[in-house]
Amino acid sequence: MLSQEKIKEALADVLVPGIRRSLTDLNLVQDIELGGGKVKITLASTALDEDAQRWVKEKAASVVKQIADNTTTEVVFSEKRPLEINRVKHVIAVMSGKGGVGKSLVTALTAILLNRQGFSVGILDADITGPSIPKMFGISSRPRGSESGILPVLSANGIEIISINLFLPGDDEAVIWRGPLIGKAITQFWEDVLWGNLDYLIVDLPPGTADAPLTALQVLPVSGAIIVFTPQDLTTMIVKKAVKMAQQMDKKVLGVVENMSFLYVPELKKQIDIFGKSRGEEMSRAAGAPLLARIPIDPELATLCDEGHIERYAAEILTTYRDALLKAIPPA
Ligand SMILES: Nc1ncnc2c1ncn2[C@@H]1O[C@H](COP(=O)(O)OP(=O)(O)O)[C@@H](O)[C@H]1O
Ligand SMILES: [Mg+2]
Repeated sequence: MLSQEKIKEALADVLVPGIRRSLTDLNLVQDIELGGGKVKITLASTALDEDAQRWVKEKAASVVKQIADNTTTEVVFSEKRPLEINRVKHVIAVMSGKGGVGKSLVTALTAILLNRQGFSVGILDADITGPSIPKMFGISSRPRGSESGILPVLSANGIEIISINLFLPGDDEAVIWRGPLIGKAITQFWEDVLWGNLDYLIVDLPPGTADAPLTALQVLPVSGAIIVFTPQDLTTMIVKKAVKMAQQMDKKVLGVVENMSFLYVPELKKQIDIFGKSRGEEMSRAAGAPLLARIPIDPELATLCDEGHIERYAAEILTTYRDALLKAIPPA
């Protein structure tokens, strides 16, 4: 017996051109009408150019034909904005009091761990001034789309990624924008990108506590923040400032992560505190939130980042971070 559920299941196999996610993943299936030997499917045309629409239409009709040979199938499109279509359960912001502490790295690892758990995950690279996310994931293809929206680019393991870097002509092009423009770009990444159905969207916020991260926290419906620091941060001041900013914006601090916490030398079986003693507990107290992980300086990790293969990272620390993370974040 043909049912809406069966048709939806079939449509879940139709991948949208330009991204390896299906019509249902992207929440493009708006309506399915059944009756009198007819099936009428309404799809949102969001972010689909003419070619993509033609392809999706044919493909959708053909998968329905496979499960119901003697029905006529009609596929129509409706215009919708990405914002109307997107169903993002939780937005998690990754913050730091200053730049260069590994904010992008923690953003990437957080997304990777949740993706490995089977959640659907996206990364919104809102650090417009230093976008390093695409490089870590080895992606450089321009996002596709249409007048009505932009499609994210998919990582090797299926994480949706959007970054200003993907729109620039050259990789090393610097973005020197003033505050209002940055705010606009972040708003557009939220409103005009077809994220579809996501369990978690991880946001790489601009560093510091100035205008840009503040705008991002205003624009995005952030459920909670993870704050990154290194033992180099001599006072808790910098972390406290970030915590204060989050609290002022009514955002919960989910936890803190100490990056470049130590160097492990396997030959000596010894841990060396290169940047001084861990300040994890102290920062955790200052933030009123758990210390989720102490990430060591790992040359392998640096190499994987440089080569665009961060998704291959499989060090032990990830298990610790994953367990703490799953306890700290809202359930999907
Ligand atoms: N724990 C680490 N081990 C090795 N390299 C790291 C580590 N953390 C960061 N790096 C390297 O340092 C650089 C800066 O990190 P990044 O995450 O881009 O900092 P931020 O986003 O805070 O500016 C990256 O190129 C990354 O490869
Ligand atoms: Mg960065």
